[in-house]
Amino acid sequence: MFGLAKLFISTVCFLLCVCVSTYASERQFYLGKIATPEEVLGWDIDVRPDGLGAPVGSGNAINGEEIYAEVCAGCHGDFGEGMDRWPELVGGEDTLDTHDPLKTTGSYWPYASTMYDYIYRAMPFGMSQSLTVDETYQIVAFILNMNDIIDEDFVLSNKNIGKIEMPNRDGFLLPDPRPDIDVFSGTPCMSDCDVPITIIGKARDIDVTPED
Ligand code: HEC
Repeated sequence: MFGLAKLFISTVCFLLCVCVSTYASERQFYLGKIATPEEVLGWDIDVRPDGLGAPVGSGNAINGEEIYAEVCAGCHGDFGEGMDRWPELVGGEDTLDTHDPLKTTGSYWPYASTMYDYIYRAMPFGMSQSLTVDETYQIVAFILNMNDIIDEDFVLSNKNIGKIEMPNRDGFLLPDPRPDIDVFSGTPCMSDCDVPITIIGKARDIDVTPED
């Protein structure tokens, strides 16, 4: 009796092993599940600087004003001036090389497509990814218009979002001149990396570190 039970159990185990290993050979670690194309689409929302990846859609500032007032102005102000300590979205031209630079989407961001990407991905704060594609184009158009970058009736779309000329588009240094970044311009160094480091200043000297 025991012999039969043992034989039965070992046969089942053997069959299980065969099944698992055949399946596992296709899915090496047998972890999680394979994402469906629809699930991948949900994550694949990045929009590149040249507009590649921008979803088909459009909108202008005239239509954007209303929805901006409804879902953004509570934090960022009716005119992008920022309520309390929420970030400003408008203004700051010609301040980047001053002692108090005001970095906004208008003064600082190099690409309109990044505004699209960020807003669609992350805003409104606490309700991210609740905007439709067209609502996002409308809102980006409205913010660009408040920053005097496009006219209010300009129709922003997936076709032109990569071509909008932002005021600070040439303000970023490429290739990145920071010494440690050099390492990434070729084959990344993975061991015994000799990156020269020179400390040129300390936060304490410019008095930004709180005493306590
Ligand atoms: C509840 C408050 C709130 C609401 C509503 C809100 N935001 Fe924001 N927003 C924030 C906060 C907080 C940040 C900074 C987030 C961070 O730095 O991680 C931010 C950052 C941003 C930035 C980046 C600013 C910069 O220069 O770094 C943009 C652009 C922006 N929001 C646009 C929008 C738009 C458009 C809407 C409406 C669809 C919206 N936000 C709604 C709170 C809010």
